[in-house]
Amino acid sequence: MGVNVGRKLKDAGKQWVIEDAKKKGVYWPTERMKEKAYFSDEKIYAEASKDTRGFWAKHARESIGWFGEWDADKVVELEPPYFNWFVGNKTNLSYNCIDRHLEENRNKAALIWVPEPVDEAKQVLTYMDLYREVNKCANVLKGLGVKKGSPVTIWMPMIPETAIVALACQRIGAWHSIVYTAFAPHAVRERMEDAESKILITVDGFYRRGKRIELKRRIDEAQVLEKVGAENCVVVRRLNSEVEMKEGRDFYYDELMNGVEAYCDPEIITSDDYGFLLYTSGTTGKPKGVMHSCGAYSVGVALTMKLVFDLHPDDLFWSTADIGWITGHSYALYGPLLVGATSLWYEGAPDYPDAARWWELIEKYGVTIFYTAPTAIRALRAAGDKWVEGRDFSSLRLLASVGEPIDPDTWKWFFEKIGERRCALIDTYWQTETGGIILSSLPGIGPFVPGVAGPALPGVHCDILDETGEAVKPGESGYLVVKTPFAPSMLRGMYKKPEKYVEEYWSEYGTEIYFAGDGGIKTGMEIGGQPLIKITGRIDDVMEVAGHRIGTAEIEDAVSDLDEVVEVAVVGKPDAIKGEVPALFVVLKSGVEVPKAQMDREIVKAVREKVGPVATPEVAYYVADVPKTESGKIIRRFLKGLVRDEALGDMTTAQNPECLKELAEITKYRGPQKIQGYNA
Ligand code: WT7
Repeated sequence: MGVNVGRKLKDAGKQWVIEDAKKKGVYWPTERMKEKAYFSDEKIYAEASKDTRGFWAKHARESIGWFGEWDADKVVELEPPYFNWFVGNKTNLSYNCIDRHLEENRNKAALIWVPEPVDEAKQVLTYMDLYREVNKCANVLKGLGVKKGSPVTIWMPMIPETAIVALACQRIGAWHSIVYTAFAPHAVRERMEDAESKILITVDGFYRRGKRIELKRRIDEAQVLEKVGAENCVVVRRLNSEVEMKEGRDFYYDELMNGVEAYCDPEIITSDDYGFLLYTSGTTGKPKGVMHSCGAYSVGVALTMKLVFDLHPDDLFWSTADIGWITGHSYALYGPLLVGATSLWYEGAPDYPDAARWWELIEKYGVTIFYTAPTAIRALRAAGDKWVEGRDFSSLRLLASVGEPIDPDTWKWFFEKIGERRCALIDTYWQTETGGIILSSLPGIGPFVPGVAGPALPGVHCDILDETGEAVKPGESGYLVVKTPFAPSMLRGMYKKPEKYVEEYWSEYGTEIYFAGDGGIKTGMEIGGQPLIKITGRIDDVMEVAGHRIGTAEIEDAVSDLDEVVEVAVVGKPDAIKGEVPALFVVLKSGVEVPKAQMDREIVKAVREKVGPVATPEVAYYVADVPKTESGKIIRRFLKGLVRDEALGDMTTAQNPECLKELAEITKYRGPQKIQGYNA
């Protein structure tokens, strides 16, 4: 591959992907793509199905470095709903991400970091730089009493120190729990309490859409550290803003890093240990701590870097996901480093200072593989085609999407305007719980069909089942499941809540079938004997708001704390850009005569404070009652139908059918009401 400064790449314009002459809207890799790709033979599906354990054993050996061997016949040990991969073997994630590449690639860029302010220079961290910083940081953490198995809470944005701190945790076997910066300090507190974490690593602040977001100040205002009894808080200076530092408890990162030992032995992590915790939304108000392994997780993530992203040493990979989400963990940080590649990190907003920012970054740095979310594409598309026109996207080879189904219209725009009809566009399905991608078309095999995610990956046994547990026929819809032996990167448990683990994933169809919580359609198309699957979205009380997973119950808990509120039900309302937005049905106490604008403000404030700005509700209906079952469970299905303008279905199960008429007319303040009067 050449370098493209001021001119198109030598082979620009050549196709990586081509439309099927017979079937419009179905695309296949060109010969050129197949030649380049690590995997281009559809036989891989049959081979992996025939000997799934052998498939994973082979890739486990090739993908990462191990400090030993797994026990004979223990590629996977199944005790559903628990399972353990590569039993008895030992490894370390920071060793695999860094040390392993030093011999051949110590001067290669591991991370290219682009700050949001346009006048600030980018930073490049080579593998050697990372090695030095991570070792020091590991010693800093040790000095603060952090040990193997200690939970370390990290509330940090997309800056290089976040990668360093996370890798330092891995080096000593501590479990990081990274919290998204658009959550509220209250969310940090909840997660620290649940994990019994005694240390918080954060920043003074960072830039987002030109604003200074001051994290440490917000932690102090909410008295999080006092409330959770934190022993230490480490503060990275990003803004150099004035923050309060409590003597003996709070330390500046740069001061701790000064003069600390340069090398730290990587801790041995076995198949019985864990790699990290990541809290995600479930069907209750409390976020749940998904526990990931180390070795098995690394195998899944490293393999998908090559299998799904076809990442070669000369690629520049950009996953736009924030580190606070699993996509940031697996594909902005660990995945690219596991395979010794270069990962681009950008601190800020896609539309800052204008809607060309992302496109400029692709052009300027020559990104070859670009991974993002449909909501971002829709927002940037809505900003207008003028921001993309005339740009040089010739470096791009592969586009990929994640987070929610990508609708064919958005798919087409992304494919045409950014991929210039040359690049493959894959739709990757997975979850926090699966740790890595489990379903997607493969770039060297195809096909690429707008609106259809693709087949399960080789070695992963997915299916679509009906309510009785029977596999549906082609053309039918049902629920997405993963069958034994599951996938190495999948979750190993739920922190301190084994019963929740069983209830959420292993009770619908029993302990041998993982229930993902998404609906899907088995299309009539196949590749390598595998059906292509279209994902239709969550079937439980979880929303995907702008690609972010938010539990309806978390918002409900925050709002029902308000004095005026008797009850509240939250459902996802379709939104042209964000996919879904939280819509609230609020029952106020009788006699409450607060003006709507004021009530709206109180509600928004409560949600932003308890859950975070990312969950800000957009619509509130004030109603006299919400429909409930005999046992008192809110029938969200009805409310969902209402906000979606869908048929409302059978309501005979409601114990209070009188409210339905009123709901259908939408009450007190008349009609769907956009939340008003709140200035963020
Ligand atoms: C939920 C998981 C995994 C990274 C992002 C979100 C939805 C994810 C797709 C896709 C349709 C998708 C599902 C899933 N989802 N990718 N390609 N097509 N839906 O991780 O926060 O754990 O959310 O995101 O509903 O269950 P997460």
